[in-house]
Amino acid sequence: MKLLHAAIAASAAAVFAGQAFGTMDDAAANAAMAKAGCNACHAVDKKLVGPSFQEIAKKYKGDPKAVATLSEKVRKGGAGNWGQIPMPPNPAVPDADIKKMVEDILKL
Ligand code: HEC
Repeated sequence: MKLLHAAIAASAAAVFAGQAFGTMDDAAANAAMAKAGCNACHAVDKKLVGPSFQEIAKKYKGDPKAVATLSEKVRKGGAGNWGQIPMPPNPAVPDADIKKMVEDILKL
């Protein structure tokens, strides 16, 4: 019974994250982003504190190093590519999750 409840809670979280990142198709990456709090500063199609994920995808389109450089940036934080407001570092988010998030952002 406990297991069942956990499964329901997990899928509810995925559905919720899916709404927040409507155009992304990977529920796991969506859930990871919701958990990491990325959506406090980013939205798919409009600028919040940080640039929209669509703008980011556009800027790095065709850049073969984008996954590596952006994963590093999300991990360590920093400013300068979009303005003076810095993104805080995300040391608690596993590397594999960050890579998946960045890959999904770049697919937009
Ligand atoms: C407190 C606000 C905040 C949070 C939380 C946040 N970001 Fe950002 N993000 C920013 C800002 C501001 C920038 C622009 C930085 C710059 O100008 O270089 C940015 C930039 C980015 C970029 C583009 C980096 C570049 O150099 O072009 C990516 C990709 C990104 N964020 C992904 C994420 C992901 C994934 C998460 C969650 C793990 C996240 N962000 C959480 C504020 C935030």
